[in-house]
Amino acid sequence: MSVRIVQLTDLHLYKQRDGVLAGVPTWETFAAIQRQVREHHADFDYLILTGDLAQDEERETYEMMREALGDWLDRCRIIPGNHDDPVHLRAVFPEVFDEASASLNFSFTCSHWQVIGLDSQVVGEITGRVGSEQLEWLGAQLQERPSALVFVHHPPLPIDVAWLDSLGMNEAEPLVSLIAESPQVKLVCAGHVHQEWRSRIGDADIYTTPSTCVQFGSRSEKSFDTRTAGYRTITLEADGRYTTEVHRLGDA
Ligand SMILES: [Fe+2]
Ligand SMILES: [Fe+2]
Repeated sequence: MSVRIVQLTDLHLYKQRDGVLAGVPTWETFAAIQRQVREHHADFDYLILTGDLAQDEERETYEMMREALGDWLDRCRIIPGNHDDPVHLRAVFPEVFDEASASLNFSFTCSHWQVIGLDSQVVGEITGRVGSEQLEWLGAQLQERPSALVFVHHPPLPIDVAWLDSLGMNEAEPLVSLIAESPQVKLVCAGHVHQEWRSRIGDADIYTTPSTCVQFGSRSEKSFDTRTAGYRTITLEADGRYTTEVHRLGDA
């Protein structure tokens, strides 16, 4: 039986409903994406939020988000981004996070697949990092099932956009090596760069996913893209194959 996943990333919400980031009203675009997901992918099995949920990192913003997620909450898993407060996240979503764990990772099994969320946040920094303890944890999770899907906020590779790459993942080589040496990793889905991009590490496809609000351009200096906000759907098949697609607001 296939498993249907929706990835939403980089929501950048504020406690003010009319909060705007780079000209984009982030609650409005998030609400529009929720409507589109309800219309076209309401039967998803899991919703994965891959960080930068609250631009202001306020507890109230997470409470408003919890309310907005409504009946999606029990299918929801979360990893933090650089724009997140881990203390507030744990407090507002106690059923989502394992209180015994120091990092905000997740991992669960779906038939043939292990679905993993890897916390790459360095509190107080924009750049990310996956330390040795995290790598050890990831290595153990990768032994669970023949196929693995890994979510992480910061992409493990540069995306050839200089200003974003300078704010990317530091010391990524050990993570890249682990992925390269782990044929069970079929795909990695990241956020942070607010655009769609694709590459490979060994046998694994590496994807980034558009933000639910502001879209960055692919030029080396900071620029914005006029494409609408988006999200990703992923379908995992029992034989280890998968399909994935980016959807934009207004897509039929
Ligand atoms: Fe972001
Ligand atoms: Fe980010």
